[in-house]
Amino acid sequence: MTTAEQAARRRTFAVISHPDAGKSTLTEALSLHARAIGQAGAVHGKAGRRGTVSDWMDMERDRGISITSSALQFGYRDAVVNLVDTPGHSDFSEDTYRVLTAVDSAVMLLDAAKGLEAQTMKLFGVCASRQLPIITVVNKWDRPGLDALALMDEITDRTGLRPTPLTWPVGIAGDFRGVLDRRTGDFIRFRPTAGGATVAPTERLTSAEAEAKEGDAWREAVMEHELLSADGYDHDQQEYLAERTTPVLFTSAVLNFGVGQLLDVLYELAPAPGPRLATDGTPRAIDAPFSAQVFKVQAGMDSAHRDRLAFARVCSGVFHRGDVVTHSQSGRSFATKYVHAVFGRDRETLEVAYPGDVIGLVNAGSLRAGNTLWAEEPVEFPPIPSFAPEHFKVVRANDPSRYKQFQRGIDQLDQEGVVQVLRSERRGNQQPILAAVGPMQFEVAAHRLEHELRSPVTLESLPYSLARRTRAEDVESIERRTGTEVAVRGDGAILALLTNRWQMQILERDNPTIVLEPLVADVADGSAPTP
Ligand code: G4P
Repeated sequence: MTTAEQAARRRTFAVISHPDAGKSTLTEALSLHARAIGQAGAVHGKAGRRGTVSDWMDMERDRGISITSSALQFGYRDAVVNLVDTPGHSDFSEDTYRVLTAVDSAVMLLDAAKGLEAQTMKLFGVCASRQLPIITVVNKWDRPGLDALALMDEITDRTGLRPTPLTWPVGIAGDFRGVLDRRTGDFIRFRPTAGGATVAPTERLTSAEAEAKEGDAWREAVMEHELLSADGYDHDQQEYLAERTTPVLFTSAVLNFGVGQLLDVLYELAPAPGPRLATDGTPRAIDAPFSAQVFKVQAGMDSAHRDRLAFARVCSGVFHRGDVVTHSQSGRSFATKYVHAVFGRDRETLEVAYPGDVIGLVNAGSLRAGNTLWAEEPVEFPPIPSFAPEHFKVVRANDPSRYKQFQRGIDQLDQEGVVQVLRSERRGNQQPILAAVGPMQFEVAAHRLEHELRSPVTLESLPYSLARRTRAEDVESIERRTGTEVAVRGDGAILALLTNRWQMQILERDNPTIVLEPLVADVADGSAPTP
């Protein structure tokens, strides 16, 4: 099979959601359905569930959250599915945003009772900035929830995407009997199994058979389906790929209902890897020589493997273990003897990978998120944007005699993207500012500084909640105002740290020429992110 044919059968996507919508449950259900594993619960889960394999730190285990990103690969029909894992906790949303640079599409999971939640909205914004097509899945339909049509209106009004349901629930939320397959008009009837522990059997019935069996519930679904069609809420592949519409499916991940349909839709509709634009604007063709982009570096993933893993997505060509590739940023060659496919705690040596696949490079001390690896023909992909931090703390070493370890540790956390590190003249190098998208990033940073980098620290909260990019000539007017501060990020960006939006408006009013630009992917306040 050629590289292009291998790429064409890849489906690389991430499941994203507000916490608790059922992401872990759906991940299990998907892999179970594809028969990658024997029994639900063995691959991924929260604390307390059997075989919690994606937790790597005690802190994670205690809290039942997963911090690492990795990819689960399984075959489905004649496709190769790469499900790239994202952290479950919204405090690690910066990691989720990075993962979204490595996938070709996203599955957005909604809780049927809650609809669009805060994190859902941010994620829709990030997908828009990454130009990622989204399939929306309304989960937990086995429980009482919102009206399906009202939910479609909410999606239309709040995301700007037109929802185009591919299936429509038969039975209201809480009475989930099956779905109307809107492309064929058939009824897909679900039959529960004990605890959803095996693939839920489905039955396909004609409309007439469905009407005889389900009566009013079926007639209601048909009527709503016709209403949707009359209003133009039907799937159009080009519109979906252009991110103007979002196909919608209804599921109960916990009962395994609708999971098979989701896999079929991913197989049939989700985009395969395509050429990726290099920094100079030229596309790197899928069948060009090997190239990959690192999207995450993770250290100390578990005590059995105390090392650094860099996760990279193959963008072009074929990767063979042992290939010597070039690290674009340093110009050095990089040997790839130790390459793994990683999911949670499980590692498997990987021999070959194609565009869309995720490789875990072991002991990749020199690699940073955003870096490019290539063979034969040089290429460099654009850096991964740093996301707008909303939380800020000053960090100090508890033991001043270990200042060197402290500095090294801080630099390492910055490079790995665990937190962003800002420095200011006012505070000097002894007291950098850590900036985070979610406050739990600080806990990870402090934990790692103490246990791994042997430099216990004290963190002190700062009152800021907003960072804006500014210019050197504006620094004086910003610092003159009390309750503000200017600091410089690792990439040289000068950031004004502000307590709130009011303060920013006053600054702008008093200094009409001042520049206070939103940061890339500044999605927190709902403003559209710009790439
Ligand atoms: P997350 O990764 O998005 O945070 O969500 P997770 O899968 O952990 O699911 C959150 C809770 O929602 C879990 O319940 C899970 O069982 C439940 N859940 C997931 N999908 C469905 C569904 O389709 N229907 C219903 N009714 N519930 C669903 P929990 O009580 O927090 O944990 P557990 O003890 O049940 O595992």
